[in-house]
Amino acid sequence: MGFVEVARVEDIPTHRGLCVKIRGIDIGLFRVGDEVHAMENPCPHAGAPLSEGDLDGFTIYCPQHGWDYDVRTGFRIEDADGFPIPCFAVRVQDGTVEVDIDQPTNSHHEKSRPRTHDP
Ligand code: FES
Repeated sequence: MGFVEVARVEDIPTHRGLCVKIRGIDIGLFRVGDEVHAMENPCPHAGAPLSEGDLDGFTIYCPQHGWDYDVRTGFRIEDADGFPIPCFAVRVQDGTVEVDIDQPTNSHHEKSRPRTHDP
C-alpha cells in the first residue's frame, strides 16, 4: 500500500495529537516543530486515545491515567524494559503528511528502549 495521505501538517495540534484511520487502525499523529511522528493511538494500558493526551516535547501523556510515551520510539519514558507502541514511517511533502503502516520504525518485539535515543 505504501505511503498514504492522512492530514495536512497544520491540522495536527501542537500540544495534542490527531487521530487518523489507516486500514481500520487508529494512528496518532504528533507534531513537534517540523517533525511529525506516527504511532498506534490506543494506549496499551486500557485503550484510551493517546492523541487526546497532552504533548510536551516528544512526550505524550495518556489522557486517562497519565502514562507517558516518547512519540519517536513508542517506549514509556521511565520504563526502558517495556515493549514499545508500534510506530510508523512518516513523510511530509508540501505540507501533506503521509504515513506508511507497512514500514514500522520500531519493533514490537524489541524489549529495550534504545539508550542512545534518550531525550
Ligand atoms: S489507559 Fe493510558 S494510562 Fe491507562
